[in-house]
Amino acid sequence: MSISRRQFIKSTMASTLMSHFSFRLWADDTSPGYDYVLTAEPTEVDLIAEAPTAAWGFNGQFPAPVLHAQQGQPIRIKFINKLNEPTTIHWHGLRIPIAMDGVPFLSQPPIPPGDSFIYEFTPPDAGTFWYHPHMNSTEQLGRGLVGAFIVHERQAQPFAEDITCLLKNWHIDKKGQIKRLSIPRYAARMGTPGRWPTINGLHQPVLKVPAGEWVRLRLLNADNTLTYRLHIPNAQAHILAIDGCPLTTPRPLTEHAMGPGMRIDLGFIAPSKGSTWAVWHGEHYPLLSLESIVSTKDQQIQADQSNVPSLPMNPIPQPDVENAEKISFVFEWAGALTPTAQQKKGKHTFWMINKRAWEGMSADNIPAPLATLKRGKSYIFILKNITQYHHPIHLHGHSFTVLKSDKRKIIPYQTDTVLLGKNESAQIAFVADNPGRWMFHCHVIDHMKTGLMGYITVT
Ligand code: C2O
Ligand code: CU
Ligand code: CU
Repeated sequence: MSISRRQFIKSTMASTLMSHFSFRLWADDTSPGYDYVLTAEPTEVDLIAEAPTAAWGFNGQFPAPVLHAQQGQPIRIKFINKLNEPTTIHWHGLRIPIAMDGVPFLSQPPIPPGDSFIYEFTPPDAGTFWYHPHMNSTEQLGRGLVGAFIVHERQAQPFAEDITCLLKNWHIDKKGQIKRLSIPRYAARMGTPGRWPTINGLHQPVLKVPAGEWVRLRLLNADNTLTYRLHIPNAQAHILAIDGCPLTTPRPLTEHAMGPGMRIDLGFIAPSKGSTWAVWHGEHYPLLSLESIVSTKDQQIQADQSNVPSLPMNPIPQPDVENAEKISFVFEWAGALTPTAQQKKGKHTFWMINKRAWEGMSADNIPAPLATLKRGKSYIFILKNITQYHHPIHLHGHSFTVLKSDKRKIIPYQTDTVLLGKNESAQIAFVADNPGRWMFHCHVIDHMKTGLMGYITVT
């Protein structure tokens, strides 16, 4: 097998950069007053050896810079829109004030081309979060505007290595050109799949990890469509956190379904030198492999498998489940098979929440909320998926507790996105403590853009 020069450069880059990837970029010191200056702009990315891909990138990069914040510390980000269309940035999973939530019209006016906006907030929770536009999402996310946002715990955690991996399955052809990001036939089903799986922009990279030491591996599904079924054959890893929310007790990873928008933090002791591991997507293909190297740390941490490090819990208010008000949401297929006039113009409605499809939004036309909640009160949402497809249902501005499901045994856990399998019903509970108008939608971008989207108001 011959390796092209480009591939060779990329694989060497992968091994030297990957392990320190998440600590690569700190504040831009040429811009006092901001922790980061971020642009969104057209750029070229080397995804395959044959030719570059015309993409859109934060700071013209793919993967986007990993942003680092400190739990409970303010962060200021100056964002400049260098695209030819309006955009915003949403900070997925962060419980911050509505004015910073980055949803056009609902929380801020769209940022026109050439304009800038200052995002400024204090993340209350530590964990693995992410950022992406909330406008023209099929294109803007599909072309590469997706990045990791890491909020560090108040205290350093006992890992020798902390690695962030952003998963995206690019919609490119054999020449690296971006193909149609949304095809109605697929939008009405599981969503339009990509063709080129990447981890931090690399296809099946090899990560170097220090043999015998605890490693924290953060996996982020920034894909528009794909649900990854993660597992590590022949090895023991623990789930430390789901969607930025630590588990009270880490539990062994068997297989974990990570839908679009979702994250997982894994902890494991890196394999002994010479043995190799891989993180797989179902039985389909390995996503990445791990290669152990001799640790360069002076002080070796004596890793002990019986002593799995657990992460400190985040200060998420506990809902009063006994007295919570219950509200039902039914997620339904609405796909009319005969195209309507609307559909001929390229607008399709395939999905509904409580018999409503997202009507779209503009400055002077904001649809009614799906529900209005009272600030400080506890709620249980009963979520019913009556479709044949799965839906990662995401709520902005709050983290909720998944209480139960009619299809799986649930040990209650906190999250910002719950993956509903086909015909699955689940119950989630939370305290509506953050006033504002908060998006509530499926994170399969094709589904959200064809109806599976709405918002709730907390007054
Ligand atoms: Cu990743 Cu509306 O969110
Ligand atoms: Cu979000
Ligand atoms: Cu969906």
